[in-house]
Amino acid sequence: MSDSLPLLLRAALGESVERPPVWMMRQAGRYMEVYRNLRDRHPSFRERSENPDLSYEISMQPFKAFEPDGVILFSDILTPLPGMGIDFDIVESKGPLIQEPIRTQAQVNALTPLNPESSMPFVGEVLGRLRESVGNKAAVLGFVGAPWTLAAYVVEGKSSKNYAVIKSMAFQEPNLLHSLLDHFAQSIANYLCYQISSGAQVVQMFDSWAGQLSPIDYDTFAAPYQKKVIDLVKAKHPNTPTILYISGSAGVLERMGQTGVDIVSLDWTVDMADGCNRLPLNVGVQGNVDPGLLFGTAEAIRSRILDTVLKAKGRKHILNLGHGILPGTPEKNAQVFFEAGKSVDELIRTST
Ligand code: CP3
Repeated sequence: MSDSLPLLLRAALGESVERPPVWMMRQAGRYMEVYRNLRDRHPSFRERSENPDLSYEISMQPFKAFEPDGVILFSDILTPLPGMGIDFDIVESKGPLIQEPIRTQAQVNALTPLNPESSMPFVGEVLGRLRESVGNKAAVLGFVGAPWTLAAYVVEGKSSKNYAVIKSMAFQEPNLLHSLLDHFAQSIANYLCYQISSGAQVVQMFDSWAGQLSPIDYDTFAAPYQKKVIDLVKAKHPNTPTILYISGSAGVLERMGQTGVDIVSLDWTVDMADGCNRLPLNVGVQGNVDPGLLFGTAEAIRSRILDTVLKAKGRKHILNLGHGILPGTPEKNAQVFFEAGKSVDELIRTST
């Protein structure tokens, strides 16, 4: 019925498909020479992600090199922050920096609700151009950071090892943290709706640092806000598939399956067969090859793809890594990953 839709979208919608679609988290970035060359010419991350010509060009780099089944907007989970009144920068080899971390109720009260049309028109422009360029050869993916992970950055002020500042807030002033999480949930839902009406066909929410929470605290500080974002988005766009990724999610997999998302993105510390057994049949899976495999031989990469795809057989499955591709990964191994993913039927035939 929908032969003209891209494979990844058909798979995410639950249609039975000829093979699992394949893309990679962080598929545009430092492991690619064309990206590093462009970065030399445009050293500011904010410029690369907020100038629509650059963001478009970078988003297309992996598509031109490998033709993955999904093309993800080149941006960052922090990109909406300035539109809410929080300035940030991404500093080479240090990561994200928030100039004035959010620590008080007065600061939360002063945040502005995100109006993506006016504060980040470049995102809508890039998504529209991507859709036009890739047509039905690939699905265009949008993404956001989930409220807990965004809060972790703005409260800590930077990447953190032990999350001591946000955990002090969680366990000393929970109402303050809840007001921040609620602000983000509303704004992030608006932002996802804007991405979808601008051309994103599938959207992924990254709650990268929710794996730092005990399950009982995940139920308080992460899951309700993931669910709120998903509910608000589904109310406007019921047919757009949603994916949820958490790094270190093995302790909360069942809970992820109850947030209303269509697909749970597994990291590589969970065996794909176990992951499938722990999620209801109507929830799909994405993943979950260890990004470290791409430092291995072509044979090792192929055999792990085969193992992963066979274990997910019978499920809605999008082949991906278990987290972003690592800087320093040989580009030819990314090529092997995509080629093997796209010819997995042949791998299955020759392995039996
Ligand atoms: O997947 C893609 O290709 C889309 C691009 C994308 C980026 N960031 C570009 C980027 C996506 C989906 C993200 C999401 C993101 N950003 C997450 C969630 C995914 C995850 O990894 O868990 C998180 C936690 C962030 C915050 C962030 N931004 C970090 C931790 C860093 C790395 C800092 C460093 O120096 O290693 C960034 C910067 C960033 N965002 C880079 C890229 C390609 C690297 C900086 C650069 O290329 O100059």
